[in-house]
Amino acid sequence: MSKLALTYDDIQLVPAFSNISSRKNIDLTTQVTKRYGLRMPLVASCMDTVCESEMAIAMAEMGGVGCVHRFMSIEQQTNEVATVVNALQDDAIKFLWNVQNTDWTFTKAIPIMAAVGANGDFAERAIALVNAGANIILIDVAHGHHENVQQAIAILKKTLPTHIDFIAGNIASAQAAKDLEAWQADGLRVGVGGGSLCTTRLKTGFGVPNVTCLQEIVAVTSLPVMADGGIRTSGDIAKALALGSSCVMLGSLIAGTKEAPGQMIEKSSGLYKRYRGAASLETKMVHNQVQRNVEGESTVIPFKGGAKFVIESLLDGVRSAFSYGGANNIKQFKPEWVQVTNAGLTEARPHLL
Ligand code: XMP
Repeated sequence: MSKLALTYDDIQLVPAFSNISSRKNIDLTTQVTKRYGLRMPLVASCMDTVCESEMAIAMAEMGGVGCVHRFMSIEQQTNEVATVVNALQDDAIKFLWNVQNTDWTFTKAIPIMAAVGANGDFAERAIALVNAGANIILIDVAHGHHENVQQAIAILKKTLPTHIDFIAGNIASAQAAKDLEAWQADGLRVGVGGGSLCTTRLKTGFGVPNVTCLQEIVAVTSLPVMADGGIRTSGDIAKALALGSSCVMLGSLIAGTKEAPGQMIEKSSGLYKRYRGAASLETKMVHNQVQRNVEGESTVIPFKGGAKFVIESLLDGVRSAFSYGGANNIKQFKPEWVQVTNAGLTEARPHLL
């Protein structure tokens, strides 16, 4: 059966009555898994040009979380996680996470997230990461609605201590959300083929535009949904939250920052850093993987400075969105939305210059 599917550019949120007097007071507290909360709804993607310890620490200092990628040896990834855990002994970070006067129903533990695959060394890796202090394991699979993921969750649930939560994905259908919930995932990573460097939809024809994908999944799950891939602006973050996501995962928006892994590249036109798809040829070559099933691109992007500056300006945009939506917090943020035409999209962008 054919069905119309929409993505972020196809919709706009409708302003609602607001009595928000100051954007400063907007509470962006949310959850990332059943038991782990965030102070702000942003997660750094588990890509090798986005998140190792430096990015994960910066995210935690801002109240979010970074997922330490898995494209390195178990020992290296464990060291990265241990570095994050050590940095979080800092009083200022503890203070930020020591929630007062809010409706905080989650564990008080600061989330420490790291990725594993669903086969090979995944169990050994997950045990080592948890021993180093990780408390959320993300099972990082391009097609998460897969028997391997079911088996991986079953094995890890039996092997790891009970305080560990699992995020599984990526998925793009209601049935996948129902199955992952039945397989005991604690959070869902949602979005297939919509990332800024993805070629999955071109190569395979599979994937669902993000708005419809989120709508279908949010309608059937009680788990926190992390919208992943294709977020280009704070407006897209607002749309993902408005559709019922609990948080969003960022790749390109925070790649190219000081905290993103990778060397600075100097060109006559300025400073750059590399950003590459997890399934790109470059990633496979760098990590000595079999150079087949390439489903991503790689590129250089202009150096953006510190991640905190980038994140702060994204959060400014999100708080402004909440003011337009008349919402004090994420639970209240349920604005209506409309589908727009190409003319509407043109009108939405600066069009005088
Ligand atoms: P953005 O748009 O934030 O997307 O840059 C980041 C997300 O893209 C996904 N990802 C990939 N998808 N091939 C894909 O089809 C790839 O090589 C690839 N690398 C990353 C991933 O979900 C990430 O969080």
